[in-house]
Amino acid sequence: MNFNLSEEQLMIQQAARDFAQNELLPGVIERDTHQKFPTEQVKKMGEMGFMGMMVDPKYGGAGMDSIAYVLAIEEISKVDASAAVVMSVNNSLVCAGIEKFCNEEQKQKYLVPLATGEAIGAFALSEPEAGSDATSQSTTAVDMGDHYMLNGTKNWITNGGTAKYYVVIAQTDVEKKHKGINAFIVERDWDGFEIGPKEDKLGIRGSDTHSLLFTDVKVPKENRIGEDGFGFSFAMAVLNGGRIGIASQALGIASGAYELALKYAQVRKAFKKEIIHHQAIAFKLADMHVNIMAARLLCYKAAVEKDEGKDISESGAMAKLYSSQVAMDTTIEAVQIHGGYGYVKEYHVERMMRDAKITQIYEGTSEIQKIVISRSITNK
Ligand code: CAA
Ligand code: FAD
Repeated sequence: MNFNLSEEQLMIQQAARDFAQNELLPGVIERDTHQKFPTEQVKKMGEMGFMGMMVDPKYGGAGMDSIAYVLAIEEISKVDASAAVVMSVNNSLVCAGIEKFCNEEQKQKYLVPLATGEAIGAFALSEPEAGSDATSQSTTAVDMGDHYMLNGTKNWITNGGTAKYYVVIAQTDVEKKHKGINAFIVERDWDGFEIGPKEDKLGIRGSDTHSLLFTDVKVPKENRIGEDGFGFSFAMAVLNGGRIGIASQALGIASGAYELALKYAQVRKAFKKEIIHHQAIAFKLADMHVNIMAARLLCYKAAVEKDEGKDISESGAMAKLYSSQVAMDTTIEAVQIHGGYGYVKEYHVERMMRDAKITQIYEGTSEIQKIVISRSITNK
């Protein structure tokens, strides 16, 4: 596998790095403190082509490959993991699913505004009683002939309060279990669709997480994605790619914390020498460096396999499982290296530690990734 970056990929990486430093860094602590969504910054990300990075230019996308996507998410997550999840959901869960599985009419209507960043998308699978156990959907979409009647509640939906279009998963035929599930594109202003209050979170506080309530929402038949009963396969296929985005987010959080810890260790003195010259600190940095590289290689491998059209359920899960652990371990040690300074907001690493935790929970917990990986190796 060749991991030499092309000129175009290096250009994207640099553009994302500059954007993160110039546009995201200045307000990141304030957005975290006040749970403020990065509205202006997301608008600029749209203008830069970051909201539909892998979408075909004929639908308004940037037409990049998955490695470029990993690079951009890593750079943005180094500075602001909240902005990164807005981007990841829009790219991997919403745009990718619509581009791969929707018909031309649906693409023209929904993909074009989503890929250009004119509209933000959300992906609604989880429910109050169905998170990991995603086939136990209680939200129902009853077939009424020319439309479906949607009822139920979705929980924890990223971009929930800011999205214009929502990909919603619901049960149509309970007898058929997961084969009776459908996916729909639902518009924000449809009657009966209500957005619940914003969640007050530990981390990724700049992102916008809400429950969604559907009461007799009429969803036109033409808004169903794929054939009747395709919804669960659709969700799983989309999540396989999404997990590369979250793995890259975790990688970025880890590498951002590592860079700050390295710089700090080179200047902070204790016992008459820079703390990097205390082996206990140098070894922590060595461990971080190795783990981050291993995580990066797993992300690249999954990205390359995705672009080759391979089944990425295992490689995506491996990248997410490992990178999220590295994000957690690295940020905890980055706080430790900063001593008391690591415990206050000004030095960023405490936020990174809080942000890291979610990468072990959403888009499938670490335990779920192990289920996916163990089933995959058992079936080989
Ligand atoms: N890729 C493709 N298909 C898959 C799949 C995968 N990774 N995992 C399961 N499937 C398919 C199976 O092949 C099976 O299909 P068939 O019956 O046609 O063979 C079907 O899905 C059901 O699979 P299982 O019998 O294995 O179902 P299960 O109930 O035992 O477990 C699960 C399935 C893997 C645990 C699944 O429910 C799962 O992934 N849960 C986690 C849900 C999740 O990731 N939610 C994320 C929400 S989005 C989000 O979080 C966004 C964000 O934060 C930003
Ligand atoms: P549960 O499924 O109840 O799990 C609780 C614990 O039990 C976990 O440790 C889990 O790993 C473990 N567990 C469960 N089943 C097993 C098993 N079979 N074997 C071993 N251990 C198991 N969802 C969306 O659909 N769209 C979004 O945009 C979205 N964004 C999110 C943003 C945030 C900030 C958060 C917190 C969540 C978001 N989610 C979203 C939901 C997220 O995907 C779920 O929280 C996650 O899948 C876990 O589900 P749960 O919270 O119901 O936990």
